[in-house]
Amino acid sequence: MDRSYVPPVISGELGRNAPRVAEDRNFYARGPRAPSLFQIDGLPVTGLVEEFGSPLFVFSEYDIRQKARRMREAFKSRYGKTSFAWSVKTNYLNAICKIFQSEGWIAEVVSQFEYEKVRSIGFAGSDIVFNGPYKPRAALKTAIEEGAIIQIDNWDELSQIEELVADRKKPVDVGLRVWLDAGIKPVWSKFGFALENGEAERAATRILENKKLHLHTLHSHIGTYILAPDAYGVAAKKLLHLREELRHKHRHLVPCLNLGGGFPSQSLLHGFTAPVEQVVPPIEAYATAITNVLRELPPDEQPLLRLESGRCLIDEAGYLLSSIIAVKGVNRPILTDEDLSARAYKERMILNEDSRIGYVIDAGINLLYTSAWYQFQILPARAIDAPPIPSRIYGSLCMAIDVIRDHVDLPPLETGDILTIHPVGAYNVTQWMQFIQYRPAVVLIGNNGKADVIRAREKLEDICGPECIPKHLAE
Ligand SMILES: Cc1ncc(COP(=O)(O)O)c(C=O)c1O
Repeated sequence: MDRSYVPPVISGELGRNAPRVAEDRNFYARGPRAPSLFQIDGLPVTGLVEEFGSPLFVFSEYDIRQKARRMREAFKSRYGKTSFAWSVKTNYLNAICKIFQSEGWIAEVVSQFEYEKVRSIGFAGSDIVFNGPYKPRAALKTAIEEGAIIQIDNWDELSQIEELVADRKKPVDVGLRVWLDAGIKPVWSKFGFALENGEAERAATRILENKKLHLHTLHSHIGTYILAPDAYGVAAKKLLHLREELRHKHRHLVPCLNLGGGFPSQSLLHGFTAPVEQVVPPIEAYATAITNVLRELPPDEQPLLRLESGRCLIDEAGYLLSSIIAVKGVNRPILTDEDLSARAYKERMILNEDSRIGYVIDAGINLLYTSAWYQFQILPARAIDAPPIPSRIYGSLCMAIDVIRDHVDLPPLETGDILTIHPVGAYNVTQWMQFIQYRPAVVLIGNNGKADVIRAREKLEDICGPECIPKHLAE
């Protein structure tokens, strides 16, 4: 028998994080040296800041393509009829959208702005899925003319579409957004037509009775950061049940099922203490839950499956580099060899002796909107030969709520030290606020190993350009 040792295979993705997992979860397992992050895709963090300034968003093309390919493989290997749409609101920087386009992704937009933005960079109208609760009439008109799939959200929108297609010769493909209870609470009932009380069926019937409309898609997006793959199986079953009813009553088999987005990234919500690997199921589990339901249908009745993922594809590809601009002292810092009981720790807090050391950094929650929900990993960009101590990361805004991590264990740091904040690729560079500061540059580390600016640091003209001073105030 061959007894030679076979090392375990660690996927590229896991391999990137694995050495830190134990350290991150167990204060006492850290050893004398705290973890740090020197480089991203081979480029030194300090070099990036020297070249492009601080703070700085950094994206990894390698990571984005890896995620897209893994997702494609997960679904296509189980169910060939899968189509992928990039959820543009998650990150609509042109360069990022172009990467997804080159991987074969179409675009899913939720506003006129997003529609125009992706059209301006070369997405065809027919490669756009148009969602969202507010689509101005002019945008609906353009989308119909350009062949986008409009996913109808409400009765008023349906009425407008009926008016706009009245003179058309050929029927226009549309989708119907449906909300349903897939076991995830709270149920997102703001968007679309209710399934359970028959509203969705009434809307579908109205579409099917209109000769100028063709019901192409039944769509449901059950929420975001959904940790239960089975919920998608439930949603798929419920939509298929509606599809079957419509076939029975109207002899129309809806060709496409769109299950929206919502797969989680490798991020943890505040309060989660287990390692991310235990909390977040792999993408393959979602693919299995969905495609097992679809594969129960006879092959000629299987619908096109469409997905509109955002968070799970881009979050880990994004980092924020930020510099410490001030260290806030503590009266009596916790010493690293001090063994505080929970009670002693609490007493200190009650006595108002803040035992955490505070670092003010040059970025704030204006750039990290998602810090309200997610506990980012924060690591220094240099090795520090000291164990970590409880610390707090303050942002640079003049607001008391501007705290990025209330409690994070970090080695003692100094003014000027650079921190990497990760993963921050989803929703932050779209939901960021221009409040009292310029938004920083964003760079992409390409597969060629080079860092290119994909959004320049804002200047005064960028912000004040649209402003006007009335004549009587100008003098
Ligand atoms: C309609 C729709 N599709 C797709 C998404 C993308 O979701 P996620 O980023 O969780 O994948 C969203 C986000 O909430 C959405 O509202």
